[in-house]
Amino acid sequence: MAEIKLTINGKEATGEKGDSVLKVCEKNDIYVPNLCHHRSLTDTGACRLCLVEIEGQRGYRPACSTEANDTTADIGQSDCILMFKVDLDKQNRVAGSFVKLAVYQKGANLILVDDGKNSFDRHAVLRLSSDELNKAKELLGRASKPIIIYDTSATDQEVEKLSNLCEKAKMMELVAGSNAKGLLKLGINGKGDIKGAKALYILACDEGISGKLDRGSAEFVVLQASYMTPEAEKADIILPSPLWSEKEGSITNIDNLVQKVARIVDPPEYVWSNEKIIKALADKIAH
Ligand code: FES
Repeated sequence: MAEIKLTINGKEATGEKGDSVLKVCEKNDIYVPNLCHHRSLTDTGACRLCLVEIEGQRGYRPACSTEANDTTADIGQSDCILMFKVDLDKQNRVAGSFVKLAVYQKGANLILVDDGKNSFDRHAVLRLSSDELNKAKELLGRASKPIIIYDTSATDQEVEKLSNLCEKAKMMELVAGSNAKGLLKLGINGKGDIKGAKALYILACDEGISGKLDRGSAEFVVLQASYMTPEAEKADIILPSPLWSEKEGSITNIDNLVQKVARIVDPPEYVWSNEKIIKALADKIAH
């Protein structure tokens, strides 16, 4: 498990990726009163006795059911940021705005590592190609709150090289797409191998398949989608699914904050909910 570093009550605390704030506090002997939390049960955040304030987030959060992780607000506090093969103007404008805030309001150094053109070129104090990575060590080492940003396309070897650059640097992996963090929590990471699949059933991928629907060897492709795109036209069957404004549930933002989504309008009659489509298919398969 990857180590994470947090500052709690002004002191550095360490935990593991996926730990709740309460778990990190317990591991670092920081007492947080709690009542409904029990290590054998799933935390629901019911009693609110463990509420804590988290920098960059509004209001108070239950420590037992809030994942402790680096947030985009940490970027704004950093004095040296290394961006590895990510173009935040294209991939994540929220994180990108925190980088610009750190550079122009706090005087942070930006190190940009990329083998191609990047819209952050003009903001960087040091511009490197990926095989010059080690030249970033000195600048990172001099910083007090260094942070390294990369995305899910970085290989394990690249992530290892990045983490070896500076021991005290926070490592921040960005995942693209709205609610991608919610999917990750369900164990859906988009890294499945479809090689050899005879048929594909693709769900909830309006953004995910943009520009990259590859049927591989699949003879038959079913797509549940809300928009008609050139990619969607490659599918054999399209099952229309509701737009975000036509359904309810939750969305997990890039800081792992879970927010309720309320339905604003009803979908047209011919558009079934995702649950109804799955259930109808399951019933058909069962018979
Ligand atoms: S212990 Fe009850 S909400 Fe956290």
